[in-house]
Amino acid sequence: MIKAFLFDLDGVLVDTAVFHYKAWKRLANQLGFDIDEEFNETLKGISRMDSLDAILKHGGVSLSQEEKEKYAKIKNDWYLELVNQMTVNDILPGVETFLKESRSIGIKIALGSASKNASLILEKTGILVLFDAIIDGNHVSRSKPDPEVFLKGAEALGVENDACVVFEDAYAGVQAAKAANMLAVGIGSEEVLHNADLITKGLNEMSPSEIITKIL
Ligand code: G1P
Ligand code: MG
Repeated sequence: MIKAFLFDLDGVLVDTAVFHYKAWKRLANQLGFDIDEEFNETLKGISRMDSLDAILKHGGVSLSQEEKEKYAKIKNDWYLELVNQMTVNDILPGVETFLKESRSIGIKIALGSASKNASLILEKTGILVLFDAIIDGNHVSRSKPDPEVFLKGAEALGVENDACVVFEDAYAGVQAAKAANMLAVGIGSEEVLHNADLITKGLNEMSPSEIITKIL
């Protein structure tokens, strides 16, 4: 029986995955190289510092710890410039209805995100109140595909792992869900998310009850 839904943030509830890409690309360009969308896929679900390490490796650039912290902050400042322009209109289509319908059929809801900016974004888009628990980059030490973020989410909700469904747009996020012994709905393309139990283009495509029926 399904008792809880755990949602990734960037690319599932809000379109901030694009903002991360823009800000990381700008940083790479400043450091003298470029990143493309295909490489960006590998950063999804990965913490800020782990993302920076992956980008530097990709560009063949090595920096001291102090410089890395400086550049991570620069990237986050650029990212926040984009986030600060967000309003309630920036939640992805169908998200608010999906969350409300889930609650109305007794499903508990948690956030499971690698981002340290999660609460700010949920607040700006007006959906923070719909969550029973928030687990984000401030509560975990290991990036997806490690299951830590989802295990902590299930624990905070008081729900067994195998009664949880995770919603993810990242391959590493689906891997994390599987490692936590949870079911996974991939939000995006079959090509990227072939490890998910069910794939949909967005939360506006299926109702919570339909998801539960199809995934079991
Ligand atoms: C971090 C990373 C970003 C990654 C995101 C996943 O977010 O910077 O590359 O895609 O987690 O949600 P941040 O803590 O910087 O908001
Ligand atoms: Mg994501």
